[in-house]
Amino acid sequence: MPLAPTVRLLLLTHAFNSLSQRLWVELAEAGHTVSVEYDINDAITREAVARFRPDVIIAPFLKRAIPEDVWQNNRCLVIHPGIIGDRGPSALDWAVLNNEPRWGVTCLQANAEMDAGDIWAWQEFAMRAAAKGSLYRHEVTEAAAVVVHQALERIQSGSFRPRPLDYGDPQVRGRWRPWMTPRDRRIDWLSDPTEIALRKIRSADGQPGVLDELFGEAAYLYDAWPEDRLGGVPGALIARRHGALCRATVDGAVWIGHVKKKRLQNGPGFKLPAAVAFADRIAQLPASAEEFTGDDQRETFREIAYREHNRVGYLEFRFYNGAMSADQCERLLRAFEFARSRPVRVIVLLGGPDFWSNGMHLNVIEAADSPADESWRNINAIDDVARAIITTEDRLTVAALRGNAGAGGVFLALAADRVVAREGVILNPHYKNMGNLYGSEYWTYLLPKRAGVAHAENLTENRLPISARWAADIGLIDQVIESDASSFIPAVEELAEEIANSHSYHETVREKRARRKRDEFAQPLASYRAAELEQMRLNFYGFDPSYHVARYNFVFRVPHSRTPLHLAVHRRKPTAARN
Ligand code: COA
Repeated sequence: MPLAPTVRLLLLTHAFNSLSQRLWVELAEAGHTVSVEYDINDAITREAVARFRPDVIIAPFLKRAIPEDVWQNNRCLVIHPGIIGDRGPSALDWAVLNNEPRWGVTCLQANAEMDAGDIWAWQEFAMRAAAKGSLYRHEVTEAAAVVVHQALERIQSGSFRPRPLDYGDPQVRGRWRPWMTPRDRRIDWLSDPTEIALRKIRSADGQPGVLDELFGEAAYLYDAWPEDRLGGVPGALIARRHGALCRATVDGAVWIGHVKKKRLQNGPGFKLPAAVAFADRIAQLPASAEEFTGDDQRETFREIAYREHNRVGYLEFRFYNGAMSADQCERLLRAFEFARSRPVRVIVLLGGPDFWSNGMHLNVIEAADSPADESWRNINAIDDVARAIITTEDRLTVAALRGNAGAGGVFLALAADRVVAREGVILNPHYKNMGNLYGSEYWTYLLPKRAGVAHAENLTENRLPISARWAADIGLIDQVIESDASSFIPAVEELAEEIANSHSYHETVREKRARRKRDEFAQPLASYRAAELEQMRLNFYGFDPSYHVARYNFVFRVPHSRTPLHLAVHRRKPTAARN
């Protein structure tokens, strides 16, 4: 039977991760009524279905099977990050490890066998030499958005018959693959060349990491970068740079940016910059300097990179997971000041390919002797970067968001004169999810100025993700660039050069200076910061420990015990349920 053009959709998901957020935003914008339930246990799932009575259940990210009575009585669509016919819990891991040239996403109907249901839609893409998490946030997410819309349209049409999985069909190239064990991707430092070591780490990055040993201790490795100049005895740690450690392979070396010790004395570990996790062991390693202006073509660990072209300076900051520690912010500030000293008319802040920024580095804060002091140091360091951007009065700045941004990372972007984002980018312009954190980064100045007071209040109170399109509609950002991850940078370069070489450039800079002067006269920038930090001091040092508890839960990935009401529409009040 055909369905109405807009329907009730329940997202049943292990977490409200980037993919679920993207689907949530797009489906809601398409006019559907969307609610979310975390997959906590079967009884809760059943209760959610009974309350919401969805037309379709969509499972974008599950770690357990959907209860039989739920998929028997409801149409449940599972998003599988694999090509048609691929099955199993480590789909993308195998695709990266096996160096598949093409991969894909399949939308299938849940049934008794894992990933073996009838196929509603699928989409393929070319693979990239990148971490699993990066592929997930770009190619998989884009393909998933396409197949979900397609599947819904097909269901709505009432005439489409989903295709049963048939391994006799030549189009079905995938097959069942088991869960990938640590042994499947263990690095043999005495024989694996750099390319293989990289691939093994990337196949497990962000989760679960490649289990290895550093300084005789078991640790998971993440955030791998190739190194083309250094080398040494295979397997030996040969250098350190900022947070990363360099380890020799048989034909070169790799940098390891982040690690998670398998177990800390007081419980499970969490990801930290490698040099922070092993701070007491690295003194003997030679420190290897690398400037942010180094050779573009060189393969090495370089979190911050600066280049110039046609009167435009491009500052890229590829901080792992978009998290910015106090040290990283201090280095970023130095790089930005360098850019300001150069004869460029426009400075483009490129962030990283996966995230533009997610604000303070909560893991580094968690690991500090005093998380409150480290939070204070971190927020001040990020504020200093924001202030430097806001007070750049002699030229123009552009924040160009290729990847998502969250919390302070969004507001840092708003410090630029012009904010552009790739279509498909998801923003979380709020802090409250982190234990009612008040936030700083001059957001009380930047947010209402751009989006107006009413939107500012909605965004910060509702704590929901928004699309780049919606952000542009309400004036939070200036422009959406329709492109994929690879065509975004050329489009930004074109835009930045246009601004730098425009006839009205000097006039625009003059207007900007005058505006800043007026704003400063109305309320000094320093007073916005002081008022925000007064609230942050309470978050960090006050009686209410909510921020510290929320940060602990976030860093240690404590499983959810319930779905928050701002996501679970069906749990809010009886009127939200279907009559
Ligand atoms: N500090 C440290 N790690 C961070 C981080 C931060 N500020 N923000 C994100 N991460 C890490 C996550 O722990 C996760 O790690 P993993 O690789 O071990 O899985 C990874 O980045 C991806 O984050 P995830 O939450 O899975 O991504 P998402 O796209 O689903 O959600 C956010 C994005 C921004 C909504 C969410 O990560 C978040 O709330 N981050 C915290 C933002 C914050 O409160 N910052 C401090 C105040 S300025």
